[in-house]
Amino acid sequence: MTDNLINWNETYSVGNAEMDEQHKKLIDIINKLFKSFKEGNAQEITSEILYEMIEYSNFHLNSEEKLLYKYNYPEKDKHEKLHEEFRKKTNELKFDLKNSSEGSHYKLIEYLKEWWTNHILVEDKKYSKFLSHTI
Ligand SMILES: [Fe+2]
Ligand SMILES: [Fe+2]
Repeated sequence: MTDNLINWNETYSVGNAEMDEQHKKLIDIINKLFKSFKEGNAQEITSEILYEMIEYSNFHLNSEEKLLYKYNYPEKDKHEKLHEEFRKKTNELKFDLKNSSEGSHYKLIEYLKEWWTNHILVEDKKYSKFLSHTI
């Protein structure tokens, strides 16, 4: 049993060690954020983790995009658009959170869980298949 929001396991593997490591680290940060909300930590602590999550997400999305460009993944533009939606949406949710809009914590956590599980298990898996035939 675990209290984590997301648990990385082999089904999340995209067959690229660097990307897998980044996904794991990102999931760790999201779990840390979830825990901080649950424990009702002070705003500064939660904000700090939120910034860490956004910063690391951007780092990951950028390095993944570089990888997809390097190997000329045919769906790279489409994939990049999905990343862009995440960047936009996260900024909106960050704004809501800052203004303490009702249910903003819950909305952010739900969104992160939905988005990342679907993105890794469905969308990233698509390039995973492509890279396994390319590299
Ligand atoms: Fe990814
Ligand atoms: Fe991705």
